[in-house]
Amino acid sequence: MKAVHIRIDWLIGIILLVFICDPAMSRADDIYENEGVQKVCSEKGVVVSASRYATKAGIRILERGGNAVDAAVTVGFVLSVTYPTAGNIGGGGFMLIRTAEGKNSFVDFREKAPMAADRDMYLDSNGEIIKDLSRVGHRASGVPGTVAGLYLAHKIHGSLPWKELVDPAVILAQEGFTIDMEMAKSFYGLRKLRENFPGLKKFARDDGKPLRPGYRLFQPDLASTLRRIANNGPNGFYTGKTAELISEEMKRGGGLITKEDLNRYQALIRNPIEGDYRGYHIISAPPPSSGGTTLIEIMNMLEGYPLGSNEFMSVNVVQTVIECERRAYLDRSTYLGDPDFVDIPLSRLTSKKYAEKLRSGITTKASSSKKMYKNRVRSEKEETTHYSIIDSEGNSVSTTTTLNGSYGSKVVVKGAGFLLNNEMDDFSVKPGVPNMYGLLGGSANAIEPGKRMLSSMAPTIVTHDDKVYLILGTPGGATIITSVVQIILDIIDFGLSPVEAVSTPRYHHQCLPDIVYHEFDAFTQRLKSELEEKGYNLKERSFIGDVQLIMVKGSFACGVSDPRMEGLASAVKEISIKQ
Ligand code: GLY
Repeated sequence: MKAVHIRIDWLIGIILLVFICDPAMSRADDIYENEGVQKVCSEKGVVVSASRYATKAGIRILERGGNAVDAAVTVGFVLSVTYPTAGNIGGGGFMLIRTAEGKNSFVDFREKAPMAADRDMYLDSNGEIIKDLSRVGHRASGVPGTVAGLYLAHKIHGSLPWKELVDPAVILAQEGFTIDMEMAKSFYGLRKLRENFPGLKKFARDDGKPLRPGYRLFQPDLASTLRRIANNGPNGFYTGKTAELISEEMKRGGGLITKEDLNRYQALIRNPIEGDYRGYHIISAPPPSSGGTTLIEIMNMLEGYPLGSNEFMSVNVVQTVIECERRAYLDRSTYLGDPDFVDIPLSRLTSKKYAEKLRSGITTKASSSKKMYKNRVRSEKEETTHYSIIDSEGNSVSTTTTLNGSYGSKVVVKGAGFLLNNEMDDFSVKPGVPNMYGLLGGSANAIEPGKRMLSSMAPTIVTHDDKVYLILGTPGGATIITSVVQIILDIIDFGLSPVEAVSTPRYHHQCLPDIVYHEFDAFTQRLKSELEEKGYNLKERSFIGDVQLIMVKGSFACGVSDPRMEGLASAVKEISIKQ
């Protein structure tokens, strides 16, 4: 028996060695130093999320025999407890599911405008935007979708009982969890807001002093809400006591969400957006997210260039990527919105023929976004979160959820203990007029009662030969799409390993403002000069994104959590590799 064990261990070792040493996957060893970034591999299932508590809870569900969707439900609810900046039950998101049999489906649980919302609700009598009304406070919230979305995913694909999946979140809310340095810093940053938003006191000590790293955060009201959801499913949120508490909160703060809005909310199953790139198949988020459409449009344009035969991060590559991004973001702002309200020329936008036409306008110099642009959308906030999961059967889940801004609208529902989103700001608050960022809104994304606001979230799965190859996504508002593009290019065109692809510095262009944003070390001095010579405006900015990636090779899946944040990749019967 012992000999057999040794042989199995050797076999696993050899397979992993091949995985790690694949020349196509380690070409960039000299490109980026990534010491300390952990890749975990397993045949039995992998979870990668922005919170170590959520990842571990998801792994426990897989270990108990749950499938990837079961684990995703648990991860989603735990994030609402342990990752309050973006994890939520008061917001929304999208879940892309690919079953082991190769069936794709997409759960849309994006928030909706309340029925009392109207196109000009954030404008004063002169038609000017009232500062911050769509971003903070009660009127900034759309009708939350997360609970309905997770329930719908479970109803179709789940295998373990619903209550078992919500219970880990109930326990963490009730019994508390230890906060780390990043979270303590984040809570410290809320102290000035507590006067206007007293619900935020739940993130401080009873005497009002900030919580220090190592303290436990107890959330008894949130535990009660989660218990109602565990016991009653979506009725525990959209009806009864929770709905009553939300409606009272809205009345107190002049918000628009009513009990009827909550009762009427429904998550939807949609067809994902799909496209091909150099023999790989990309599956991603359809409208009301712009994520998948814009991603496919960019990849279609890029396919026309032999990127991989250029040096990694050479001026040719970066310029080509920027120009393709510019054109796709222009279309994003012009055409995209909630498909239940606007007609979107999706098949044209995602066709190879259209990409060819767009490519014909690209030269070796910078195009002018101003000249190209007709309509534009508002920029989005970046406090979103992503998790990627695969189980031992190969069922795969890619989920991105959001409150929009950090801590959403900053409103905690009194007695219910959760934050509400400020997702109304993702609508074009004033179509056709520049907002405070110099961006214009498209009328396709104007506010209408019951409409879903446009998103950039791009939970994505890439397959090869009909088998899952990559499961990925990231937060980052408008930068979500370009981060996903970069990861796919880095892996497919430049042969970077998952750790390298996730760690490599990022850059971003979104047409307007006509600026190429880059992390401080993304471009060499030489590349900066070359791009500037071609007419690009460059701007250094802080870190971009927080990618949670799984790569599958053979029977092994390997997960990597972005080193930019505090997330965790973990696996059932984990084999951990430090590169
Ligand atoms: N709130 C960010 C997004 O939906 O893209």
